Amino acid sequence: MPATRQGATGAVISGWGIALPDKVVTNQDLEATLDTSDEWIVTRTGIRERRIGGSTVSLSVSSGQAALDLAGVTPDRIDALVVATTTPDRQWGTAPMIQDQLGLRCGAYELNAACSGFVYALVNAHGLIAMGAERVLVIGTDTLSRITDWDDRATAPLFADASGAVVLESVDGRGQLLGWDLDADGSASELLWATVGGTINMEGKEVFRRAVRIMMDSAEKSMRHAGITADDLSLIVPHQANIRIIQAACERLGVDMERAAVTIDHTGNTSSASIPVALAEALDDGRVKTGDHILLVGFGGGMTAASAVLRWGGTS
Ligand code: COA
Repeated sequence: MPATRQGATGAVISGWGIALPDKVVTNQDLEATLDTSDEWIVTRTGIRERRIGGSTVSLSVSSGQAALDLAGVTPDRIDALVVATTTPDRQWGTAPMIQDQLGLRCGAYELNAACSGFVYALVNAHGLIAMGAERVLVIGTDTLSRITDWDDRATAPLFADASGAVVLESVDGRGQLLGWDLDADGSASELLWATVGGTINMEGKEVFRRAVRIMMDSAEKSMRHAGITADDLSLIVPHQANIRIIQAACERLGVDMERAAVTIDHTGNTSSASIPVALAEALDDGRVKTGDHILLVGFGGGMTAASAVLRWGGTS
């Protein structure tokens, strides 16, 4: 890691990439094995299909390579790799395996904050840049299909696999991160959890009830730190857990759904990958221009919550 530099403390996203497994599992596929229906899943969650397959390492290498290619950055120029995941392939060493396969020569570590993990990692990476790193690769990947009980109709329709990555580069001045918030409430840890090696346990109704409140609390703190209001937001990238949670959050913020990035219909809930995948799809669709204010906001097991306000392209 380089020495702490004077002055240049900001960062911007200069490249992004996603990886979705090839295998599509539709609601109709689930009807064959579970006492459920396409109509129930779509109405209650907004999910129509999800992608299953791959490992946390293989998906991360694909999304990470795509982000490096788009940024035009060679592996030797990355100073740190942060991999947000709640499903590492091994007890330790998942990020170093990704580092090796991408040809990076830098520190590499996993960060687990459940579905808030990518925003935690992104804030972490801005901190590394403030401390002197030039470029950080941030990846959010989960392979939740490996820890889902496929016989449990309360959870099986929700969770899936994906990866999203961004390259963060240092710039002079304040950069893109105008405000951020990382939050946790361990007293609610029994609402959504898994033992090491076990499958997901969830009190769905109570998670739903709290989700909107903790997301909004976090979003409001980030916007206050950034000195903006919801009217200033061009794009909201919420964690993709349930379309009704996204709708309720938008309603609470007073912004229409057209300003929200939504992928849940074709991805399901991919935890640490959900926000970077939704952000990358919005960027690829040309929905973001320089100077736009973007709110990233997530919540998850723990319970954790995290948000960040970005000014796209940075602030001179
Ligand atoms: N198919 C058909 N029926 C189902 C079903 C399924 N897959 N899952 C549950 N049901 C049934 C229940 O058994 C219940 O039946 P009953 O009324 O006869 O008892 C009924 O549907 C309603 O169940 P309920 O749990 O009250 O539904 P809900 O509207 O709360 O929706 C969730 C369930 C899980 C979709 C919703 O609570 C949710 O999304 N919670 C948040 C979960 C989340 O976001 N987790 C990840 C956080 S990162």
